[in-house]
Amino acid sequence: MAVLADKVAVVTGGSTGIGFATARAFRDEGATVFITGRRKDAVEAAAAELGASVTGVVCDASVPSELDAFYRIVRDRAGRIDVLVANAGVGIAAPFGEVTEELIDSVFATNVKGTIFTLQQALPLLSDSASVILTGSTAATRPNPGLEVYAASKAAVRALARGWALSARAHGFRVNVVSPGGTRTGGLLDLITPEMLEQAEAAVPLGRLAEPEEIAALTTFLASDASSYVNGAEFHADGGYAQV
Ligand SMILES: NC(=O)c1ccc[n+]([C@@H]2O[C@H](COP(=O)([O-])OP(=O)(O)OC[C@H]3O[C@@H](n4cnc5c(N)ncnc54)[C@H](OP(=O)(O)O)[C@@H]3O)[C@@H](O)[C@H]2O)c1
Repeated sequence: MAVLADKVAVVTGGSTGIGFATARAFRDEGATVFITGRRKDAVEAAAAELGASVTGVVCDASVPSELDAFYRIVRDRAGRIDVLVANAGVGIAAPFGEVTEELIDSVFATNVKGTIFTLQQALPLLSDSASVILTGSTAATRPNPGLEVYAASKAAVRALARGWALSARAHGFRVNVVSPGGTRTGGLLDLITPEMLEQAEAAVPLGRLAEPEEIAALTTFLASDASSYVNGAEFHADGGYAQV
């Protein structure tokens, strides 16, 4: 049986990478899905590939007014949100000593401010017992050199989930974090050199990076009613990288 049949899902940053794989997995499990991203061509291409049950909307998660406009579209077309995946995120590397104000503002604008407003602006649309899933990172607990600012932003995501989980009763949602380890997406492959990639794979107990679909499978479990009593938790899909 399709585990997300009749559910309405939002996946921010759903045009590529982990978000795209998540939107595809949700579609395959029967959900109606809305995806976002900043680049119009990428959003349109993703929506076209995923088919009629997936709607693509250009929306920058770091701009609250754009989120409001996006949620108006969701409200008009679907009336509610059962599953919200705040996945849009950026990683920018810089050795400590070369961190700039622009880098900090850019990373925190999407990963922290964007995550906060992605949920807050969605509150009026969330259905009873909605499942909210935030994309964290193993970087929050095991940061790589040059990614300290990114790691801090993902630690903030984990802290937000802890806080929001306490308001589960008041707001009627549950919230959890999926923290991927290194995953084969454009976002990662653009960020690190081939040598770093080799080192990263060697450091994973499973001996390889994740495929986006392996992260999407975990997110699908958290989106489904099978995880109805799971709240405030963090799940790692990292081949053991940050676990042992
Ligand atoms: N790949 C990994 O190894 C890894 C590991 C741990 C955690 N993560 C996390 O997983 C999530 C997805 O990353 P990914 O690897 O799949 O990267 P990706 O392939 O670069 O995809 C990122 C997605 O987010 C969108 N996006 C970025 N900034 C946005 C913004 N301000 N508003 C709306 N959409 C935005 C991108 O589209 P536009 O650029 O067009 O906006 C794209 O759709 C991120 O939160 C990332 O930090 C990734």
